[in-house]
Amino acid sequence: MPGSVLITGASTGIGRALAFEFSRRGFALGLCARRLELLEELKEELSSENQVAVAHLDVAELESVPEVLNKLADELGGVSIIIANAGIGGRSYPGEGTFHQDRKIIEINVLGAMATIDAGADILKKQGGGQIVGISSIAGFRGLSSTPAYSASKAALSTYMEGIRNHLLQHKIAVTVINPGFIDTPINTHRKSRPFLISAEKGAQLMADMIEKQVLSSTVPVWPWAVISRIMYLIPERLWCRINV
Ligand SMILES: NC(=O)c1ccc[n+]([C@@H]2O[C@H](COP(=O)([O-])OP(=O)(O)OC[C@H]3O[C@@H](n4cnc5c(N)ncnc54)[C@H](OP(=O)(O)O)[C@@H]3O)[C@@H](O)[C@H]2O)c1
Repeated sequence: MPGSVLITGASTGIGRALAFEFSRRGFALGLCARRLELLEELKEELSSENQVAVAHLDVAELESVPEVLNKLADELGGVSIIIANAGIGGRSYPGEGTFHQDRKIIEINVLGAMATIDAGADILKKQGGGQIVGISSIAGFRGLSSTPAYSASKAALSTYMEGIRNHLLQHKIAVTVINPGFIDTPINTHRKSRPFLISAEKGAQLMADMIEKQVLSSTVPVWPWAVISRIMYLIPERLWCRINV
């Protein structure tokens, strides 16, 4: 029976598409992001029979994360799946005076996601179990020269989630890591090349299937990224250096 799903970064892109997909599947929704006005509009658009609760949340304001997630969970009368989706991209390089951008990426994509997972685990433990999902990226598989801090942030998130899996299993909390390839959302519309691009709707449908099956981790779509990721891991450092431009 569908339960309820709580999504950070639900105002646009993947988070918004997941809201529509889980609503269609009969889940109640707890949606948060910084742009509350977009969430209010989304709530109207969902016009769902299932309950929808929205709240302002900046995951970089770490202390506010438990309070907002607990408030949403209480409003929904409990939560079964918590998706740490909020994230930003960015292109910056060391020695270029743009360290503040790298810091923001780490604060939101790593610390913000960890704060979400921490608060989420506390809520789910008290409820007797559930599932935590992290939206990581294929960019975390190797250090990408186009977006080094983003790449590092996603490697950190995936590694952290792999590390917490066994501990949380003792509390009946499943951990799922989703590694999207290129999904058509505002985060990447500026890029010249977006290989194997899929729509946010298709991406959300594939992700929701994986989440409901409680897969441990997967690329989205599976093909061709699962194969490409294996190849990426196998490329020796010297060769990676030459092709990673
Ligand atoms: N699209 C892709 O191809 C792709 C590929 C791999 C991974 N991802 C990951 O998927 C996730 C969603 O990205 P997207 O593609 O859907 O991009 P997006 O459309 O730009 O969405 C990002 C979402 O995160 C929210 N957000 C950003 N900073 C936040 C903060 N400090 N606190 C709370 N919410 C915040 C944004 O809402 P507000 O601005 O309203 O707060 C927005 O809802 C990200 O973690 C991204 O790294 C995307």
